Order: sequence, then structure tokens, then C-alpha cells
Amino acid sequence: MRYSRLLEFRPAKAGRDELSLDTKVPSRERDPDKSGKDLVQPTMVASIPINRDWHTINRRKLMSVSETIKARRSIRAYQNKSLSGELVDKLSEALLWAPSAGNLQSRKFYFVYNNTIKQALAQATHGQNFILQAPLVIVGCADIAKVEPRYGLRGTSLFALQDVAASIQNLMLVAQENGLGTVWIGAFDEDRAAKALKLPNYLRPVIIVPVGYSAQKPMAPPRVSQQEAIEIIE
Ligand SMILES: Cc1cc2nc3c(=O)[nH]c(=O)nc-3n(C[C@H](O)[C@H](O)[C@H](O)COP(=O)(O)O)c2cc1C
Repeated sequence: MRYSRLLEFRPAKAGRDELSLDTKVPSRERDPDKSGKDLVQPTMVASIPINRDWHTINRRKLMSVSETIKARRSIRAYQNKSLSGELVDKLSEALLWAPSAGNLQSRKFYFVYNNTIKQALAQATHGQNFILQAPLVIVGCADIAKVEPRYGLRGTSLFALQDVAASIQNLMLVAQENGLGTVWIGAFDEDRAAKALKLPNYLRPVIIVPVGYSAQKPMAPPRVSQQEAIEIIE
């Protein structure tokens, strides 16, 4: 496969894997005018008091994380309505702030608005043409070149995929929180998707996620019981 030729991958730059918090905070959050107005730091987030007022901030009913997790459904029909830049920014932040192995962030995301490329991606998904309805289609890729120097095979075959998955789950929950629908598409031809995006050979496309306003309200598919899923060891 195209991304298995590890010897061809370019080596990681020295020090790139030890990024400081400052280098990872997007510039618009770095308080350019020193007013502190838009500055978002993890400590400030952690200091928000968790009480009932939390649910009515901005006079809008906010869902808790647990409620959002349960309310999210796979959406396979979308309204013909575009996404605001503000929403896309929130989705991007959700991707960035997911955990990753060694904080290498061995992942890359393509935000596809282009209809021709969407068509090519739809063909790669064996005819899951509903993705064409979504205003935005995100392709999550594992970055083999970032992970391989430090973690070898475990990194390339597991960590980079988990890095992408953690980001995508974050994104899906933030999408749900903001009234958007998504679906995790794993059934696709990777080579065709890579070709559609002209990916370099160190990026492996592992997930496609259409994002948009839902045009359906699916019932929740059942889950197995806690007893079946969880083994308690005391
Ligand atoms: C790894 C993975 C691959 C999936 N692939 C597809 C897919 O190719 N097409 C699709 O419509 N849904 C796909 N799904 C979505 C599942 O069908 C869906 O999450 C499951 O039925 C539960 O429904 P819910 O998401 O509404 O809770 C995938 C989900 C996961 C986690």
C-alpha cells in the first residue's frame, strides 16, 4: 500500500514533536491587542464554575457533554444550507484539542467544499452519495511521517489512527452541540480517496465525515447492556 513504504517518508524535523502550548494556541487566541478579551487558555476553561448557571450561559440551553453524547446520531441526509465561518472554526478547534500519542498530533484534516472533489470522494465510498448533500466533507488522515520516527510500527498501525479517531469524535460532539449533523464513514476505498485529494504518500485517509444541517431525525439504534460491554474487575 502507498503509505507502507516507510523508508520513503521524510524524517521528522528535530524538536517538532515537543511543541509548547504557546505554539499550539491559534493566533486569534493569543490576545493580539493585549486586552485579554478573546484569550482562551485551558486554565480559564477549567475555572468555569460547574453549577446550574452553566446550563443557561448566553441565555441558551446548553447540553451537558453526557447529553450531547447521547443525542448525537449518524446523519445521512442534509439540508442545502452552508456553514458559518464561526461554526467551522469551532469544529477545527475540536479537532486540534483532542489527545494524541506523545502529543505528536499525527493527523491532518482536509476540509472539502469543492463539488468535483466531493464527487470523487462519494465514488470512493462505494456510492454513499448522501455525502454530496453536505456543505462540508472532512477527510481525516493519519500522518505516518510524524508518528513513525518515535513509535515505529505501533505508531503507524495504531497511534496515528487513534489520533485521528479522537479528533473526529471531538468534532462530532461539537457539531452536535452546535446543531449540526455528521456521520462517520469508514467504508471507502483509501486509494481512490487519496487520489481525489492528491495526498502525499505519508498521509493515510482513514475517515470521511460529511458535516451539515440534518434533514432527518433518526431514532437511536440500540446499545448493548453495560453488562455485555464492561467487565468489572475488583
Ligand atoms: C468505524 C466506523 C465506520 C463506520 N462506517 C460507516 C459508513 O461507512 N457509512 C455509514 O453510513 N455509517 C458508518 N458508520 C456509522 C455507524 O453505522 C453508526 O455509528 C452506528 O450505526 C450507530 O448509530 P449512531 O451513530 O446514530 O449512534 C461507521 C461508524 C464507525 C465507528
